[in-house]
Parts: sequence; structure tokens; C-alpha cells
Amino acid sequence: MALLEGSNLRKTYRLSKRNTVEALKGVEISIEAGEMVAIMGPSGSGKSTLMHILGLLHTPDPNHGPAPELRLAGENVASLSDNARTRIRARRMGFVFQDFNLVPTLTALENVLLACEYAGIKGKVARDAAIEALGLVGLADRADHKPSELSGGEQQRVAIARALVNKPEIILADEPTGNLDSDRSTEVLALFRQFNREHGQTIVLVTHDSEVGEACDRVVKMRDGRIRDSGLRTGTPVMAVPAATAPATA
Ligand SMILES: Nc1ncnc2c1ncn2[C@@H]1O[C@H](COP(=O)(O)OP(=O)(O)O)[C@@H](O)[C@H]1O
Ligand SMILES: [Mg+2]
Repeated sequence: MALLEGSNLRKTYRLSKRNTVEALKGVEISIEAGEMVAIMGPSGSGKSTLMHILGLLHTPDPNHGPAPELRLAGENVASLSDNARTRIRARRMGFVFQDFNLVPTLTALENVLLACEYAGIKGKVARDAAIEALGLVGLADRADHKPSELSGGEQQRVAIARALVNKPEIILADEPTGNLDSDRSTEVLALFRQFNREHGQTIVLVTHDSEVGEACDRVVKMRDGRIRDSGLRTGTPVMAVPAATAPATA
């Protein structure tokens, strides 16, 4: 069974009475547990809109034709209340955005703790988890720094720690390397891959960086509000690719 499965996903933004943008024109997508998938496509093709719908941040439009469906581990979550969706997001999903979205007045540790608070985890349990998450991204020694005292790559790693702290089943990241130089991008990608391999986390990365796409198990290509290529070869079962066994160089 797919972990995340959407069908008939449409989204039209209304700019004015007469002006609308059809951002998603009927998307079908299926993501298996343990996959690391890239969603790629030109700017404006609907990638972020799709990610927001998959992450229950936005709802798909009710259709005139077949109803939209969004299934999380088999459960239809398309028409849950805002509260129910918020709970699912807080406990089962982690988000990473291009511009990091850290609270500037809080330290790295406090930023990570916010995600614990949203999930209803408090006190020492939360603190230990937040310190562990910062350790995983290599920032244990920066816990007391505010975002302005950290480099872009470090800020993005804090955002990743925040996304990981509740050990979510799914991580959704929108252009997570968009504001990073290529060395920092490689580091961030390696972190995602590590979590995917070690903890089986399902990772969906929206990107227009082809290097990010190449590092994923599968690339879903979007164009003009539709999926142009699901990256699935018919007859090929979807599964996570095992760790590369490149020979060590001297
Ligand atoms: N909040 C919004 N209001 C109006 N139009 C939007 C909004 N968000 C996205 N759009 C439009 O929807 C289309 C798809 O946008 P988006 O999903 O952000 O694409 P991508 O992430 O691939 O660049 C674009 O034409 C964009 O301008
Ligand atoms: Mg976008």
C-alpha cells in the first residue's frame, strides 16, 4: 500500500474576479513508504502547490467531476477538519522550506523545541529529543545560537532538525537546497539520504536542482499543473535503492 496517494488533485487560485490560475489540473501521485522522491519541473509548474496539498497544509479543490482523494497509509485525509489535519502534520510529518522559516528571536534549540510543542511533547523528553536532533545534523555545539549567528547551511540544518525531531514518517521539503551553495547542498542531501536509509523515512523533495533529483530514488516530473512523468517504469516495483557501494578511494 502506498504511504501517500493522491488522485484528482486540482487547485485553482483566484487572483481577481476574472483572473484565475490553474496551478494543478488533476494530479495523480503515489509515494511508497521508504521512498526518497524528487518532484521536479519548471518554476510555476505546480510543485509547491502539490507539496502543500500532500503535506495537508492546503486542501485540494472540490471537483465538479470525480472527487479529490488523498490517502495517508490508506486513510482518506482529504476532507478532515483543520484540527485533525494539524494533528497529523505535527505528529507524522516534518517540513523543510527554502527560506528555512526559523523564528529569529529563538535559539536553534528553541526553534527545534517548537516542533515538539506542536506535537504535544514537553519537558525533558522534548529537550532530549531536540538536543539529539541537533546532534544528528551536526549542530549540537550551536544549540544556543540564534539564526542570525548561523550560516545559511547551518540554518537549514536547524530546520531539518526541527523537521526530524518528532521522528515523522514523512519529510516534505520545498527547495531545501535552493539557498545553499553546492557544498552545503551536498551535505543537506546526504543528511536526507542518511535519515531515509537509517530510519526508513519517506522523503519528498521539491527541487529544480538536477543534482538533487539524481540523488533521489525517483523523479516525478511536473509541467503546467500536471505530472508529465511519474518516474515509474511500468512493471518495475517501487522500492528504495540500496546504499551505493562505491569503492573507497585512497
Ligand atoms: N497563493 C497563490 N495565489 C495565486 N497564485 C498562486 C499562488 N501560489 C501559486 N500560485 C500560482 O500557481 C502556479 C503554480 O505555482 P507553484 O505551485 O508555486 O509552482 P512551483 O512551485 O512549481 O514554482 C504559478 O502560476 C503560481 O504563480
Ligand atoms: Mg515552488
